[in-house]
Amino acid sequence: MTTNQDTRTGDLSGEFASLRDWCDQLRATDPVHRDERGVWHLFRHADVSAALADAATFSSETSAFLPAAAEGDAFRVANLTRMDPPRHRAMRGLVSTAFTPRLVSGLAPRISALTSELLDALAEASRLELVDALTYPLPVIVISELLGVPTEDRGTFRDWVDVLLSLNVDRDNLAASQQAVRSVAPTRAALIDYLRGQVDRRRVDPGEDLISALLAAEADGARLTEGEIVGLAATLLIAGHITTTGLLGNAMLLFDQHPEVVARLRDNRELLPSAIEEVLRVRPPFSLTMRATTREVELGGRTLPANQLVFLWLLSANRDETVFAEPDRFDLDRRNSHQLAFGRGIHFCLGAPLARLEARIALDLLLDRYAEFRVATDEPVEFYNPLVVNGPKRLPLLVTPA
Ligand code: HEM
Repeated sequence: MTTNQDTRTGDLSGEFASLRDWCDQLRATDPVHRDERGVWHLFRHADVSAALADAATFSSETSAFLPAAAEGDAFRVANLTRMDPPRHRAMRGLVSTAFTPRLVSGLAPRISALTSELLDALAEASRLELVDALTYPLPVIVISELLGVPTEDRGTFRDWVDVLLSLNVDRDNLAASQQAVRSVAPTRAALIDYLRGQVDRRRVDPGEDLISALLAAEADGARLTEGEIVGLAATLLIAGHITTTGLLGNAMLLFDQHPEVVARLRDNRELLPSAIEEVLRVRPPFSLTMRATTREVELGGRTLPANQLVFLWLLSANRDETVFAEPDRFDLDRRNSHQLAFGRGIHFCLGAPLARLEARIALDLLLDRYAEFRVATDEPVEFYNPLVVNGPKRLPLLVTPA
């Protein structure tokens, strides 16, 4: 938690600022860093990019390094983000046939209507808490509708996500302790049981939703198992909303710091996509991702042995001054699309078009509805742990309706 005093001085949250500074320092002094527990850390854009692009050397199957998940945990069975080819290719192909760019662009009217409804509910209020009002409900309703799970259950999802995101990790213990993983096991089990129920419901009563599409899909001639469908649904439900909550909140925090950007956006809405890329660059919702080496590999002048856990700092790559001149500047005119907030390569975020669309529509409507918005100074802004999700979980705003 931080006070708004910090926000005003550009120190968006104590924990985020210290992580950012730590990344900057190591990128300058020891960019391929091995910590005292033997974990490797990549900080430069070139190295993070190279590792993301080389799935054969940098495997996503990192479970051997992480504390065992609860027995029967569907996340273990089918977490797309943690799979390697050829299984990854087959599963991703299946999800992609159900989750097409056409389906996503067709959601625009629904996203606009939902955003309007959520903002209508605030009437002429001059003070609001943006996470409760918009940044949480919008993405969770959109992904719930897509998956075909009841949107009324979103309060329960939020409770689950709050527990899952409270996983106690810090910089010295990024893989999370066995005890920390055990402490969230009942919540993971509740989520998985819930989704299993939803999959069973769709099996007997299919609809026009992703779960039904996955149930109907064939992978290499074989249907997906229930565990695989539940795992995919869990990944989509969680990855599909809280990251976008982070993106929207981060956008409003950065707009608060850069009134000149907001002024330009008000008159030039076509700049919104560039603004969203800058928000993602400066405050990526995932600070890092991880991989495991499958063989000895040279990187940045160092030799990483096989079977090493490697942290890829997206946050740091996005601040690499050799790629992004003056990385602290929020620059709407940056003609550079190499920010890595959505990853790169075969695991490139499947939901990136949806996240970008939701952000564009929501920010556009906020600019329409409010002649002015400022982060309130008399109430604290609260943040998730930036090592888990980087973004505000409570964001009080003072607004002037247009
Ligand atoms: C993968 C970030 C929104 C679904 C990823 C990865 C990143 C990421 C960094 C790659 C992880 C890796 O390589 O280890 C984000 C951010 C988002 C966002 C910053 C919002 C601003 C979404 C949404 C959905 C989604 C809205 C679903 C509707 C996925 C899935 C994968 C993924 C399924 C796994 C893809 C694969 O492994 O092939 N995301 N994501 N994400 N994301 Fe997103």
